[in-house]
Amino acid sequence: MRTEGEKTYSKMRRQRLVTMASQVLLPSRVSMLGIMLWLLAAAYISSCLNNHVQNQFSLSNPEKSSVQEKKKETSTEEELDNEDLDVFYPTNQWQTLQPGQAVPAGSHVRLNLQTGEREVKLADGEKYQNNLKEQKKGQRLDLNTHGFTSQDLKSALAKFKEGVGAEKEDKARQEEVRRRFRPIEDLKKDFEALNVVIETDLQIMIRLINQFNSSSTTLEEKITALYDLEYYVHQMDNARDLLSFGGLQVVINGLNSTEDLVKEYSAFVLGAAFSSNPKVQVEAIEGGALQKLLVILATDHPLAVKKKVLFALSSLLRHFPYAQQQFLKLGGLQVLRNLVHEKGMEMLAVRVVTLLYDLVTEKMLVETVEHGQDPPPEKVQQYRQVSLMPGLREQGWCSIVSGLLGLPDHDMREKVLRTLGALLAPCRDRYRQDATLSSTLRGLRAEYQELAAQEQRDGEENGYFQEMLGTIDSFIRELR
Ligand SMILES: *[C@@H]1O[C@H](CO)[C@@H](O)[C@H](O)[C@H]1NC(C)=O
Ligand SMILES: *[C@@H]1O[C@H](CO)[C@@H](O)[C@H](O)[C@H]1NC(C)=O
Repeated sequence: MRTEGEKTYSKMRRQRLVTMASQVLLPSRVSMLGIMLWLLAAAYISSCLNNHVQNQFSLSNPEKSSVQEKKKETSTEEELDNEDLDVFYPTNQWQTLQPGQAVPAGSHVRLNLQTGEREVKLADGEKYQNNLKEQKKGQRLDLNTHGFTSQDLKSALAKFKEGVGAEKEDKARQEEVRRRFRPIEDLKKDFEALNVVIETDLQIMIRLINQFNSSSTTLEEKITALYDLEYYVHQMDNARDLLSFGGLQVVINGLNSTEDLVKEYSAFVLGAAFSSNPKVQVEAIEGGALQKLLVILATDHPLAVKKKVLFALSSLLRHFPYAQQQFLKLGGLQVLRNLVHEKGMEMLAVRVVTLLYDLVTEKMLVETVEHGQDPPPEKVQQYRQVSLMPGLREQGWCSIVSGLLGLPDHDMREKVLRTLGALLAPCRDRYRQDATLSSTLRGLRAEYQELAAQEQRDGEENGYFQEMLGTIDSFIRELR
């Protein structure tokens, strides 16, 4: 099962590849090997372009978007022989960009938040107004932009292809290969002349942060910048680089925006950047991210915003006992408790419970490690200071979690059961006396007995429902 973040990530990948024709990316750590891999990729793209780009990018990602599928249906052998790069000439209106289409430099590309598709139009605002006027007068629009032609791009890419042809795997020939390649700066100049931008990941992130931080950008431009940024910060090195020029703080401040969309997408970027990245997590705590995330969760915001904020909070807390301590001090458990009781936020309850489960088991794992693999003493010390269990018991989480067992979904029940098991230490006494819980458990037991029996009749050993039944039985046993 892929998480939501991963799905979006691969969707983003796909879209990035689509616009690749206008933006050739260079790895941030430019090593000789990196350059060669990059040239190989460029040669590959070049051959794709020659074969008409559509559907080729799906090689990098086996999934095909519905747009690509649609295109495939209409594609014929003739179209595949077409040598021309498909360059999309934007007008003053937003139009959907199809996979494989390049856009002239200076075009304005945005993400349509409703459809998830990229849209393009001419960038110049004044021209836009003028064009509108002209259009009303019935005149033809002047679509002549200062962009590159498909021929320019193809010949530039063909140069890469020649170079790669000479490459041998033999290490001794690397010098030779090195001499045959022109310095990367030369290549960059070529591309600049074509208005094709070669940027390192760091440069791209700086550009996106500037776009987001500038007072002159529109809301949709800000959101597009955040959306693009999220793709980059999945890489740990990139997320750390974001610290080097103050980019992380700009995104954290985005949580203070008056626009819900900016809050939502800032949280989206932060969640990706925090993920298993201690250096970024520490900076985020210092930058006040935790308070801001909790304030959003505690106040009136749409579900979409709270969902992403909860995601960012979970990333910030996981594997970071100091943040967990601060979270408890700031009343984080109360905030989450109110959240699961809030009308319209039911679907967040299971995510909250999953977060608590992770925190409880993380702490238990560190505190009860087996011999030979002791974690550093400071770490154990830090986790000891996270007084999670008493907080959970005092604030009524025992019954909140057991109350969620009535959810209709098997997957949700599984998560709740798992959490009930993890909460046994602080909640055992309460659960023993909880009549509602025992009747729910009896009901579930009967339900899964039936489902498990059916599974066995169907010839399935150790099936999902048999496992669920086993989990329920062992929980009931442990309660006694
Ligand atoms: C963001 O904008 C503010 C105010 O305009 C400025 O002071 C700050 O340096 C900018 N930050 C970055 C990282 O560009
Ligand atoms: C940002 O939000 C935090 C908490 O949400 C608040 O304490 C702070 O004053 C806000 N900062 C600005 C600059 O609005």
